[in-house]
Amino acid sequence: MNSDNKFVYDRTNDISDPVPASEPERQYYFMERAAENLAKLTEEAGRPLTFCVTTFGCQMNARDSEKLAGILERVGYREEPEEEKADFVIYNTCTVRENANQRVYGRLGQLGRMKKRNPHMMIALCGCMMQEPEVVEKLKKSYPFVDLIFGTHNIYKFAELLVTRMESGRTVIDIWKDTDKIVEDLPVERKYPFKSGVNIMFGCNNFCSYCIVPYVRGRERSRDPKAIIREIERLTADGVVEVMLLGQNVNSYGKTLEHPMTFAQLLQEIEKIDGLERIRFMTSHPKDLSDELIRVMAESKKICRHLHLPVQSGSTRILEKMNRRYTKEGYLDLVRRIKNAMPDISLTTDIIVGFPGETEEDFQETLDVVRTVRYDSAFTFIYSKRTGTPAAVMEDQVPEETVKDRFGRLLKEVQDISAEVCAGHQGTVQTVLVESLNDHDSSLVTGRLSNNLLVHFPGDASLIGKFSEVRLDECRGFYFLGSRV
Ligand code: 5AD
Ligand code: SF4
Repeated sequence: MNSDNKFVYDRTNDISDPVPASEPERQYYFMERAAENLAKLTEEAGRPLTFCVTTFGCQMNARDSEKLAGILERVGYREEPEEEKADFVIYNTCTVRENANQRVYGRLGQLGRMKKRNPHMMIALCGCMMQEPEVVEKLKKSYPFVDLIFGTHNIYKFAELLVTRMESGRTVIDIWKDTDKIVEDLPVERKYPFKSGVNIMFGCNNFCSYCIVPYVRGRERSRDPKAIIREIERLTADGVVEVMLLGQNVNSYGKTLEHPMTFAQLLQEIEKIDGLERIRFMTSHPKDLSDELIRVMAESKKICRHLHLPVQSGSTRILEKMNRRYTKEGYLDLVRRIKNAMPDISLTTDIIVGFPGETEEDFQETLDVVRTVRYDSAFTFIYSKRTGTPAAVMEDQVPEETVKDRFGRLLKEVQDISAEVCAGHQGTVQTVLVESLNDHDSSLVTGRLSNNLLVHFPGDASLIGKFSEVRLDECRGFYFLGSRV
């Protein structure tokens, strides 16, 4: 697969070797030590041992999972795509909405039964859900077969925790409340050879009143721009042509750096990297999206024509209760400025239905925004009460029936509009980055347009990772069938 390993820790066999104190050298030392432990386990098992990382939630988690996989490959585990067959199963969890938690508990029950049959099996849990003390208590009580539990702040310590588990034979639990630390240059195992996520910042300081992220991902911290550029340069040298810059709120990038810089300035630096063809980013908070960014995007040859701009609600009254710090009018004005500068931009959004106190009138305001902006697509969510957030104790929680009714109406509106917007591109010829063979028909390949739409067209595996000019022949709601020109 596609490794990006810089450090080789040259450890002698002398076990009195002092453990390095600085990172990432310390973790490379523990990867070596884990490899020695794994060699013994492999001998006992009489076969190579395998791992499977299952990701719940967002692209940040997907990127974290690639880091876990990078460490495990380095230790000597082999990747096994099917969870049921793997010896080491890692769940990288999400807790943004309650149903994500329920899915984890359900699947853990199954894993416990599998572990009874496989003496070499290990189970690790990490990610946002582990940052909640009630979750860890429940795991200790009801799921004692879990081997390793860690959180979002110490993921870089995975190798060290794994060694502790291997050498102590006990369950290892290590959760940090927060951190100001960013550890660079650990191994990563990319899912795609030609595109990659790149973290530019961690955490969130916004405290939207419904959202648990600031509590589980900690305070906002930006990566040093030099480290970001260095990572992308290495990625492009290794065949990557598209990067997705990741952060909870990329528009506030750089504010806390020793030498502050704006997100737009960072983008201009990244644009200069040879070999890099496409730049994407997410997520943008409307309150921090600057005119400077709009200008840089409009002038750029590499930044994709797509903005994910979560609106959450169209009602200024609800937006205030959500602590979003913009109004309906402010949001619509921002959209106008973006569309004026880039008429071909694709806009997508997140919308929450049923926030406490939401009336039919408020909901109509949301529909009005949807009709005015005409999003290319929208993720719609039913409000989920997250313990510890201000919204969880607000009065007027909306009855389930009402929420479901509004959710259905919103979904229909969003889908009808996105089908119309999508159909507007029919007949045009666009540049497509081919990502994979089509899941259902192997005579087709699937590629992505600059504006994030998918198109399926005749082709073979040799096109994967390459750009093609494709005519969009037939709109199928939210994707296209096309042909190469
Ligand atoms: N309930 C429902 N949706 C939520 N989101 C975040 N917190 C909640 C919650 N408590 C949604 C927001 C955010 C997206 C990632 O998840 O729309 O933009
Ligand atoms: Fe949550 Fe708001 Fe931060 Fe997004 S910006 S992660 S919705 S608190």
